[in-house]
Amino acid sequence: MPFLNERTFQRYLQEGKEEEFHKLFDEGIKRVEEKLGLEYPILLADKEIKTTTKRVVKSPIDTSLTLGVFQEDNGQLLEEAIKVAKESFSYWKDSDWRDRVEFAIKAANEMRRMKYELAATITFENGKNRFEAIAEVDETIDYLNYYAQILEENRGYVKEMEGRIVRGEKGVSVMRPYGAWLIISPFNFPLAITATMTLGALMTGNTVVVKPSSDTPLSAYKLVSILRKAGFPSDVVNYLTVPGEVVSMVIERNLDMAGFAFTGSREVGHTLLKKFINLKPRPAVMELGGKNATVITAKADLRKAVEGTYRAAFGFGGQKCSATSRVFVESPVFKEFLSILKARIEATAIGDPRLKSTFLGPLINKSAVDKFRRFVDQAQSEGGKILIGGRVREDSRTYLVEPTVVVDLPYTSSLWKIELFVPIILVKEISNLKEGIKLANDIDYGLTAGIFSNDEDEIEEFFREIEAGVVYANRESGSTTGAMPGVQPFGGWKDSGWTGKNAGGPYYLLSFLREQARTIY
Ligand code: SER
Repeated sequence: MPFLNERTFQRYLQEGKEEEFHKLFDEGIKRVEEKLGLEYPILLADKEIKTTTKRVVKSPIDTSLTLGVFQEDNGQLLEEAIKVAKESFSYWKDSDWRDRVEFAIKAANEMRRMKYELAATITFENGKNRFEAIAEVDETIDYLNYYAQILEENRGYVKEMEGRIVRGEKGVSVMRPYGAWLIISPFNFPLAITATMTLGALMTGNTVVVKPSSDTPLSAYKLVSILRKAGFPSDVVNYLTVPGEVVSMVIERNLDMAGFAFTGSREVGHTLLKKFINLKPRPAVMELGGKNATVITAKADLRKAVEGTYRAAFGFGGQKCSATSRVFVESPVFKEFLSILKARIEATAIGDPRLKSTFLGPLINKSAVDKFRRFVDQAQSEGGKILIGGRVREDSRTYLVEPTVVVDLPYTSSLWKIELFVPIILVKEISNLKEGIKLANDIDYGLTAGIFSNDEDEIEEFFREIEAGVVYANRESGSTTGAMPGVQPFGGWKDSGWTGKNAGGPYYLLSFLREQARTIY
């Protein structure tokens, strides 16, 4: 079963069939439009539950559009769902790993069939442009196929031990699941990141309750429906919409949860983790934020460096934990880099991500726009200069802002340290690579990092010294972004992660397993 990444758009492009891709995407948009405004229940075992309180979710691309009407649990159903998942664990823990492989592959095939509708759902849900939206569906299909392959390669994680102490002694190491996991997923990859955490648990014999971001509950609903249709039992994979504050209260008191997986901000992740392990020690898988640096040396191909930085900083409005946020450029090329970058930004198509020409769609919601305004004001009041951008495109129906470059910001500013999650980068001149690496590491986070240089020694030094879980050299498609399952295992060091086993990598599933050493005499 060879693993092959999807790469839908790239394939159409290579074959010169770009227009066909756009036609298929437009059809996906139509299918989503036909279903706008529908109501979606909580999925708890085989029950479809509606609560009296609802949450009407609007699309950030046009807030007059209702993406869907979702239930709002007050915590009672969440506790019930965790109980259901705990009970179903009693049989799912002994499910045959070959069945799980089969279900994952079936789900991947179903997703391939629904690819354009799923991608367009993401566009409506969080404003991602069509290239990024299709890439997210590709990534999800990749996770399904890749984890199936890993499980198969490891034969379900049963390994005979070779050592012997007494005659006849035979040890076997068996990796076993923990129980019911709560999966808390973010708005920026509502399908792919929800999928990777959910699959991490399901493929290893754990059961789940999926709680998506309140801004983006629809992709997760579709994911859970597809997984169930593919064979994962309904009481093993549950879906529930509930406000974050309520989840936090439940985590504080619930002892039935065996583990929890979270992707989101460091602050929320740390708070939840402390509450979770306060009751008793339990495993948690966490992907937290980043404050990622791109370093550009005098030996870089500047055109590539600009393109890679531009894409990593402003793709999906900087709302990726992998986004480039700090840029360090060696003196001899500093001015030239800024001038090419400025020209590149001037050509940015900002607007409705349903259009094929759009590069930058809206931010996720109004508070993201407020945050953008605050950071621009802070940068200026602390001595920074706006090289380009800095403005909000006033439009009451969406959340458009400009890609923004800040220069001359004193290094004492707190903006150098906090995750912004909006399309703003801070650019600083450096005198050599060592200084660039030192500054890149001068941060609590350690998620991704990138370098542009045509000197192998410089790249080698950067890789050796940089403190980050995912590092790239000369990546034109996004200097710090766009990890692919089975190619670039994705996860963070330092405050950016927790288990040190990256998503889409060969060890990820182990985060959801505990070892049992079995010996028979
Ligand atoms: N995996 C994504 C990337 O690499 C971010 O979550 O860009």
